[in-house]
Amino acid sequence: MVSERGLEWLRKKVESMRSFGGSLLGYVGLPVEARGGNVVKLDSNENFFVDADFLRQVFAEVLKDVDLRLYDPGVMAELKEALGKYVGVSGGCVCVGSGAEHLIDFLVQFFLSAGDEAVSVVPSFFMYEKRVWLSGAKLIAVPLKKDLSLDVDGILEKTSEKTRLIFVCSPNNPTGNEFSWEDIEALADGCSAVVVVDEAYAEFGGGSVCSKTIEKENVIAVKTFSKAFGLAGLRFGYFVANRDLASALSEAIPYTVSPVVAHFVQRLLNRFDVVKGWIEGVKGERERLLSELRSLRQMKVFDSKANFVTFKPKADVERVYRGLLKMGVVVKDLGDLPLIGHCLRVTTGLPHMNDKFLYALKHILKENERLLARASGLRGLYAFKFDAVSIP
Ligand SMILES: Cc1ncc(COP(=O)(O)O)c(C=O)c1O
Repeated sequence: MVSERGLEWLRKKVESMRSFGGSLLGYVGLPVEARGGNVVKLDSNENFFVDADFLRQVFAEVLKDVDLRLYDPGVMAELKEALGKYVGVSGGCVCVGSGAEHLIDFLVQFFLSAGDEAVSVVPSFFMYEKRVWLSGAKLIAVPLKKDLSLDVDGILEKTSEKTRLIFVCSPNNPTGNEFSWEDIEALADGCSAVVVVDEAYAEFGGGSVCSKTIEKENVIAVKTFSKAFGLAGLRFGYFVANRDLASALSEAIPYTVSPVVAHFVQRLLNRFDVVKGWIEGVKGERERLLSELRSLRQMKVFDSKANFVTFKPKADVERVYRGLLKMGVVVKDLGDLPLIGHCLRVTTGLPHMNDKFLYALKHILKENERLLARASGLRGLYAFKFDAVSIP
């Protein structure tokens, strides 16, 4: 029988995972307020421009071709060649896995042990911190500069011979801006760590650094099919590194990509003309969202090269978030982040989804202004009573 005391380590571990902001423990599924009914889900940066019927048709074709009894290493080699062609490198520089998160997890496992260090800029994708923590290594957070560019000197100052990984997400989730290759290269040249460039959203921005990555010994670009290709449910990602590094890492990655997925991905790459239409659709609506949000008073809007827009209402943000939920719109509450404060992030949806979001947001902000005006009028009348009362 296990003693009561013996399970303390397990409880501590479970508790510490709960303490992560944005933890999966609280993140999975829709919030209670938004369950059921006519809800638009704009919190996870999926791509709604993707034609689900087109995907079903491709899937049916794939199932006819695949022999599920086989491991089929041949199809993996073909897949890497196809991906290499797509990003402008040879297939030998490509490694594949079940989504970018799986590959980030793998890179953490491969490069980090207890006592090592990794650096991530903040604010950025919360998953880096969680994965590094699980490995027993230490994560050092370095804030972006005020203009949201990379603080190259600040990052390099924080590196030491213990630093193994530096995470740079470009376009950055959640600030939406891209980082220059010159800055990424300066990081790689300035220290002995491996720079991991997370390009989950790169197709919505100015392009990829993959072809430059392979010229460096210590840069890896991680990519996914969950965003531009709209296949979050398929679970497929890949990374690009120089040939030596890629072939070594390839040996260590578990065999996690199904031949069904491999065939599917190749067929989609062959129909990039269709995928491009989905990407253009997102970009067009993103610009509309940006300009509509910017036209609202009392709103800070972050520019975006991704498929989401991060914004900060100059109101009670929690209240705006809850108001949106009640009106059937789920956005991501980013919590109180370094540098940018408490913001919300909305995924670029289809036009009617964005319309619903904008309508709800405008309604809530108007209501908020009305309440504020009423409260300030009352404050004039009963000034002494309102000093200690926060405005609803
Ligand atoms: C920056 C970033 N990287 C990686 C991922 C995860 O990608 P995947 O679905 O391929 O695991 C996300 C998901 O939102 C993300 O925002």
